Amino acid sequence: MQRPRRLRRTAALRRLTAETTVAPAQLVQPLFVAEGIAEPEPILSMPGVVRHTLDSLTEAVATAAAAGVGGVMLFGVPQQRDATGSGALDPAGILNRGIEAAVAASAGRLAVMSDLCLDEFTDHGHCGVLDASGNVDNDRTLASYAEMAVVQARAGADILGLSGMMDGQVGVVRQTLDDADFTDTALLAYTAKYTSAWYGPFREAVDSQLQGDRATYQQDPANRREAVRELLLDLDEGADIVMVKPASTYQDVIADLAALSDRPVWAYQVSGEYAAIEAAAANGWLDRDDLMLESVLGLRRAGADGVLTYWATELAQRLN
Ligand code: PBG
Repeated sequence: MQRPRRLRRTAALRRLTAETTVAPAQLVQPLFVAEGIAEPEPILSMPGVVRHTLDSLTEAVATAAAAGVGGVMLFGVPQQRDATGSGALDPAGILNRGIEAAVAASAGRLAVMSDLCLDEFTDHGHCGVLDASGNVDNDRTLASYAEMAVVQARAGADILGLSGMMDGQVGVVRQTLDDADFTDTALLAYTAKYTSAWYGPFREAVDSQLQGDRATYQQDPANRREAVRELLLDLDEGADIVMVKPASTYQDVIADLAALSDRPVWAYQVSGEYAAIEAAAANGWLDRDDLMLESVLGLRRAGADGVLTYWATELAQRLN
């Protein structure tokens, strides 16, 4: 008789034969930095996550670095918004100041990444600028992304996270950075980013002004093959890392990209995935600590080389 249980008999045997591992260096901690607040502000739908001041951001980056976390991904929450998201292009804007603070706090111990998208800065909440009929104007948005990229690179970001789902965004930003001599600034492409209800708590976190949805630019949750098309485009345009988002309900897509990509594939365990487990755990219905590890391990097993998760620092501390 075949006895697969033989290797499950002791903890030592299970550890020795585990096919997948999670290490702190594979984790990325998303962090929110807000303008005009004196103290960190809790985000109600994401227990344990806050909007940081520049000072508390510095502490959070230092704590993540000490835990061995691989990187941080910064999102800015400005006080003023306008139609074109001009706060994103201002070197003194909150996100760019956050990048500078994070780079200083990291002191080279972890990679500093920044969200390259307009949605936190526009008064309509869309990821780009709008045309006369109110549709997101792809090519005018690309010009803003290019400008934003240079500002973020100058602030010192190691990796820029292209999360806007505009066609051609990776190529245009790569070309612009190269022309400006930022050839070493790396690009993380949100390659397969789906229109998703899992982003709900994030919209509270960044005080999103969005009415409606992002279905004309983010991917349709029905589509798997289309993610391969997006992958081939992003690789061709020069992405250094590609990503799938959300994570738990898109593991088939993670596996597809992992099979085809010659560059790292990451997964983003988004706000709603975190909130769902936290909420159930707060009710005593799920074991939070076990699920934290199991949920991230599952993404690694599906093929993700790295994982963005709101638990990154805590999970890294537990793994140490
Ligand atoms: C867009 C962006 C979003 C998230 C990351 N980048 C929001 C959206 O597309 O609506 C969501 C992350 C999360 O839910 O944790 N800049």
